[in-house]
Amino acid sequence: MEAYLIEWASLLLRWLHLIVGIAWIGASFYFVWLDNSLRPPEDETLKKKGVAGELWAVHGGGFYNPQKYLVAPATLPRDLHWFKWEAYSTWITGFLLIVVLYYAQAATWMVDPSRPGLTPAAAVAVGLATLAGGWLAYDVLCRLMIERSQVLFGILYYGFVVLMTWLLTQLLPGRAAFLHVGAMLATVMSANVFFWIIPGQKKTIAQMQRGETPDPIHGMRAKQRSVHNNYLTLPVLFCMISNHYAFTYGHPHAWAVLALILLAAVLIRHFFNQRHRGQQQWRYPIAGVVLLMIVAVWLAPTAAVNAASAPVEFARVQQIIAQRCAGCHAEHPTLMPAAPAGVMLDSPARIHALKPRIIAQAVQLKAMPLGNVTGITDDERALLARWGAEKESP
Ligand code: HEC
Repeated sequence: MEAYLIEWASLLLRWLHLIVGIAWIGASFYFVWLDNSLRPPEDETLKKKGVAGELWAVHGGGFYNPQKYLVAPATLPRDLHWFKWEAYSTWITGFLLIVVLYYAQAATWMVDPSRPGLTPAAAVAVGLATLAGGWLAYDVLCRLMIERSQVLFGILYYGFVVLMTWLLTQLLPGRAAFLHVGAMLATVMSANVFFWIIPGQKKTIAQMQRGETPDPIHGMRAKQRSVHNNYLTLPVLFCMISNHYAFTYGHPHAWAVLALILLAAVLIRHFFNQRHRGQQQWRYPIAGVVLLMIVAVWLAPTAAVNAASAPVEFARVQQIIAQRCAGCHAEHPTLMPAAPAGVMLDSPARIHALKPRIIAQAVQLKAMPLGNVTGITDDERALLARWGAEKESP
């Protein structure tokens, strides 16, 4: 029953997290595109009002004409929409999700039984310290670099993220490590909105209400952080979906895999930012795609073990699977509320049908049995590998 309730909590939180995340990233993409697409107005009255750029668009059966005031309009409008709850609710639902899925089930998801070291509680502490420490480190670096080259900032911060990725893959299972890198970056994004962007806008407005000229430092800081957030979107989204791709986080050098994919994501994001400004710099996305291709070639599974002379007895295979897998992967599993990923391995026909996926998960990636809770041995994996190398008889 408890496992079933956890499933529901996870379903509802994940659903909500996606919805508010789409609202946030969607608004962020829209505003970056809008900012880069504005053209100076031709109408003299608009220019007099202080409009620096405008845009005409058609969407959903209506015409839209957003206008951007440089600094601010002469009088503040009574109704001013603030974009902040999209960011806050994405962080809150994401944090609850990590608590339900990882911290509440730390023995399964936060520790690696094949690499004894941390206790589940210590692994959770590492996770929480990553979120808080990741923000502090970024924030200090930002303050130091506010007046300097943002490219240099990017290089330094990328170095820090790679270091954290390496450290986390040493301490946690790959799946949890990748998710924590994503959560660390996403925490930076939300904290930027909460601690800098929104307070900066509030200070600007307060100064205007007092009839003072707004101090440009608030706008400068908010802009710096908002640009960083923009470059973090694609890396964060990759980390969030990475848990479905064991071939990435399950690799012996998973930290380098993630480091290359994150770099590719930033290069591709950079291209779109340039493109909105009317510059097509193809070298960036090409470099990004080349990096992804390098990773794809590097991770390609090597040829399976050469088939040994004697054919593998299928009864042995079935026995191993019944003992090590069917606790979770069966029509009526005992270790899970329902067969995960819809994979059921409780009959010879099903085992034959799913052979390539069984080999991929249990031999090539060693992602299964999950957290090896059922204690599969190396000999058993070797036997599955030999079975995998055999041609399937009809
Ligand atoms: C403790 C429970 C548990 C055990 C034991 C277990 N699995 Fe899984 N399995 C899971 C979960 C959970 C998922 C879904 C993972 C995800 O979504 O990342 C999964 C997913 C899978 C998938 C689908 C992945 C895909 O995309 O193809 C396969 C295949 C699989 N397991 C095979 C096995 C095999 C083979 C064994 C035994 C050697 C095994 N599992 C043992 C929990 C388990």
